[in-house]
Formats: sequence, structure tokens, C-alpha cells
Amino acid sequence: MTVDRRAMILGGAALALTSGSARLDAMSTPSLAALARAKGIRFGSTMGGSNFANPAYRTLNAAQCGLVVPENAMKWVALRPDARNFDFRAADAIVAWARRAGLGVRGHTLLWQFERWMPEWTRTHDYGANPKAEAARLLVAHIDTVVRRYAPAVDSFDVVNEAVDPDTGLLHETALSKHLGAEATIDLAFHTARAAAPRAQLVYNDFMSWQSYDGRHRDAVLRLLEGLVKRGTPVTALGVQSHLGSKYSEAPTGLGALDETAWRRFLDEVTGMGLDLLVTELDVHDNPLPSAVGPRDRQVAAHTRAYLDLMLSYPQCRTVMCWGLSDRYSWLQELRPRPDGLPKRPLPYDAAFAPKPMRDAIAAAFAAAAPRKATFA
Ligand code: G3I
Repeated sequence: MTVDRRAMILGGAALALTSGSARLDAMSTPSLAALARAKGIRFGSTMGGSNFANPAYRTLNAAQCGLVVPENAMKWVALRPDARNFDFRAADAIVAWARRAGLGVRGHTLLWQFERWMPEWTRTHDYGANPKAEAARLLVAHIDTVVRRYAPAVDSFDVVNEAVDPDTGLLHETALSKHLGAEATIDLAFHTARAAAPRAQLVYNDFMSWQSYDGRHRDAVLRLLEGLVKRGTPVTALGVQSHLGSKYSEAPTGLGALDETAWRRFLDEVTGMGLDLLVTELDVHDNPLPSAVGPRDRQVAAHTRAYLDLMLSYPQCRTVMCWGLSDRYSWLQELRPRPDGLPKRPLPYDAAFAPKPMRDAIAAAFAAAAPRKATFA
């Protein structure tokens, strides 16, 4: 079924489910997915938790997206209550819904190489007399089980997420990797994913950015990727998270000082290694922007457009994912509140699911993008 045809059908469903702008936008075509697809690009967003329980939001996502990524449901903390058991319920529900809606699915993440985001039991686990072998067994069992369950419905996995400390450039350690070594842990994760899903896109995902202060992070990610490629570790793409806006966002510096030259050099090096690029988690952290909605939305949109134009100038970039479609469900609302206490506006649809200028910016970037050879059906 074509995306537009699906959007019409889903738009019809939306009439029964919703009212107001979500209904109108679900019916409006071309969808963002259709605009992207016309250029060989897949567009999607993240779902999970309370937003997945909202039928109007599911309808909006099904109408506008060609892809979904579970926001938290495929992380170790969600899938692994302990060292023996798996709890697939939340991830299964999202994957089943996506398949019914005709959407592709990305998997996030087979290993979060950052201690804070791994389950508590990995720290207290008894690694026994041969801790190295036990750490390897846990890692392989986890990745093998998850990948075999979800491939081929999932044809692209964030195999390793955020392994690099942006301040020191060193690799993070976790309770697992301290027995194996960080580099060997990352290699093992990719090899295990490849064995379980011979054709899937295998991604290293991180938040290095085009901010001028981010040089050390970019360099460290390049070193990591070079090492992976040199050792024959089966990484096939870099996921550029794209949480736009400065981490020094409480300062009145707008969205921050950018270094486009360094960013292009970085992307040139990555693609020069034969790796593809994905925009995996796009949103705009709007704290330093004006309180007034009109000017704020216009700046968010302009920033998004400039960023996507740059990213899509690389034919290797064939996936663009937002980290949520509606401001109502952005992780930034709670974890990075605005100093003025106003709701943040980081995503293409507002809290009532009405399209914002950022939605127009994404649509315009897809319309302006050169066509590329689609690598996915
Ligand atoms: O589900 C529990 C709920 O039962 C409990 O009442 C509540 C109390 O705080 O917590 C809820 O879990 C939270 C979960 O989000 C669901 O809302 C966790 O505390 C919170 O830590 C978790 O945050 C997620 C974060 O990753 C850490 O896993 C965000 O939703 C998610 O958007 C964020 O996503 C990350 C990507 O995975 C990697 N890149 C950066 C991106 C943004 O931080």
C-alpha cells in the first residue's frame, strides 16, 4: 500500500477517533513520510508509554510516519527485569501496532554503553569465577534474543548507544564492559547483532553535534568508528541523534555557536569510511529562545531547516527520525525545562497535535532534497 493511500485510510479512522487538528492533519497529504519517500528517505518518530496509549497520537504517527522507534521499550532497563528473564510486552505492542499500520521499525538500543542507563542488576550481578566469560555470555544472550525476536520487522538497530564521554573523549565503562574492556564489548555487540540479523543496518548512535564546543566529542566518535572499521566490526552507519540546541542553553546565546565547516569535515570522514548516516532523534531544545510562541516557533523551524538541508546534502542520509512528533510528549519538557516555566516547543506538532512551522520546515527540506537511491523496500 502506498503511504498516501495508507494516510487516507488512517485519516478516515482518525475521524472516528479524534477531533480538531489531529484529525485534519492525519488526513492532510502529502504526509511527511510521503514527501520523504519521494526522495528515497524514510521519515519516522519515536513512541512508547503514555503517548502510545493515546489513539489520536497513534493515528497521527501512522499517518505521518513510515517508521517508528520505541523510545524506551527496547532498552535493557525495559526488557530485562533481571539476568534471566525478558519482558517483551511493551516492545511487542509497539512492533505489532507498527506492522498493522504498515510502518517499519527501528530498534533502540541493544547496548547503552553508559552505566547510568543500564539496569541496576548488572551492577550487583554475581559474575562468578570467570567474570569476563559471564559478561560476554550476558551480552551475547541479550542481543541475540532481542535481535532474533524483532528482525526482520526491525531492519535497523542502534547496536551501541553513546559509548563516548563527550568531555574526555574516552569510552565509557559499564558493569559489563569493565570485565571485557569497552572496545571488546562494543565489537562483541556488533558481531552478535550481525550473526542474528545478517541483512540489518547496524548503527552506532551518539549525540555529537555541529556546536563549536563539540570538537572533542566528534573526534572521539571518529576514532571509535575508525577502530571499528579497521577491525572489521560490522558497523554500517552512524546515527546522528540531532538533539539540536546548545547544552549551555541557559545562556542567552540563541541556539549556540555552530561550526558548520568542522561538522561537514566530520560527516565527510564518516561517509568516507563507507558508513551511512541517519538522523535518529531530531528535536530542538528551545530554552534560549523567546517566550513568545510565534518568534520561538520561527527560530526552531529555521534552525531545523538549515540542519536538515545540510544533513540531506549527503546522499548517504536516508533516514530522518524525530524524537516524538508532538510537544506534548517530548522528553525535554521534564528533563530540560525552560527557565520561564513555559512548555517547550521542540517538535513538529504542538500539544494539541496541530502542525507547527517546524513541520513545514521538515516538509520543505524533504521537498528540496536531491533524490537518493532508497535502500529499503
Ligand atoms: O516509566 C517510569 C514511570 O513509571 C515513573 O513513574 C517515572 C518517574 O520518573 O519514570 C518513568 O520512566 C522514565 C522513562 O523515561 C519513561 O518516561 C525514566 O525515569 C526516564 O529516565 C526515561 O527517560 C528516557 C531517557 O532516554 C532514559 O532512558 C526518555 O524518556 C527518553 O526520551 C530518553 O531517550 C534518549 C535516547 O534513548 C538516547 N539519546 C538521548 C535521548 C534523550 O535523552
